[in-house]
Amino acid sequence: MNRAETALVNSPPRRALQRFYEVPTLLRLGGALPPNARVLEVGCGAGYGTELILRRFAAARVDALDLDPAMIGRAKRRLAGYADRVRLATGDMTDLRAALGAEDGSFDAVFDFAIVHHVLDWRAALGEIVRVLKPGGRFYFDEVTAAALATRGYRWLFDHPTEDRFTAQEFVAELERQGLQVGSRWRTRIRGHYLLGVAQRPYSDAASR
Ligand SMILES: C[S@@+](CC[C@H](N)C(=O)[O-])C[C@H]1O[C@@H](n2cnc3c(N)ncnc32)[C@H](O)[C@@H]1O
Repeated sequence: MNRAETALVNSPPRRALQRFYEVPTLLRLGGALPPNARVLEVGCGAGYGTELILRRFAAARVDALDLDPAMIGRAKRRLAGYADRVRLATGDMTDLRAALGAEDGSFDAVFDFAIVHHVLDWRAALGEIVRVLKPGGRFYFDEVTAAALATRGYRWLFDHPTEDRFTAQEFVAELERQGLQVGSRWRTRIRGHYLLGVAQRPYSDAASR
C-alpha cells in the first residue's frame, strides 16, 4: 500500500464505514460464528478489523496476517490487551503454510477486509483461503472491484495491480467454482464498485459437486 491508501484505510471515516456498515452487513449475510471459533484474518492492516472480529463476531481466537511489518507493529500495539486471543504475523497470504503453518481445514472462518484485490493471482489467493477453511467454515469478504480500480481517483491516488481484476460477479463465480456456496449472500454498493458477502464451505465436498 502506498502512503495515500495507508492514510485512507486508517482514517476515521473508513473505520466508521467498517464498524457501522460492513460488519453489520456481514453479520446479517453470514450470521454469527460458532462458539470457540478459530478465525483467520488476511491483510489485517493496523488491526482495527481484527478488533471488530474479536468484539462483534466474538471470535475465540484470531490469527491475523499482513505483508507489511509496519502494519503488524501497529496491530500489535492496538491488540496488546487481547493477550493470547490474537496471534499476529508478518507474511504473505498466498502461502499460509509458510506464513502461519496453517494446515488444511484449520479455521472456522476467514475474513478479508479489502485485500484480495491487491494480490496479483487473486484466484490462487481464494484457493488458499478455501484450503484452510474447515468443512462448514465461512469466508466473510469485503472487496474492491475492477470498476472502482479503473476510476481516475483510484489510479492516481493508489497503487494496485491493474491487469485481470474482478467484477463482483467474477469474484462470486470463482468462489463457487472452487467449491464454496455463496448463493444470494452477497451485495454490491456504489454501482458495483464494492462487494460484500459470505461464502460457506459445504460440510461434505460432495455437496458442492
Ligand atoms: C487496503 S489494506 C486493508 C487493511 C485492513 N484489512 C483494513 O480494512 O483496514 C490491504 C492490506 O493488505 C495487505 N496485503 C497486501 N497483499 C498482501 C498479501 N499478499 N498477504 C498479506 N497481506 C497483504 C497490505 O499490506 C495492506 O495492509
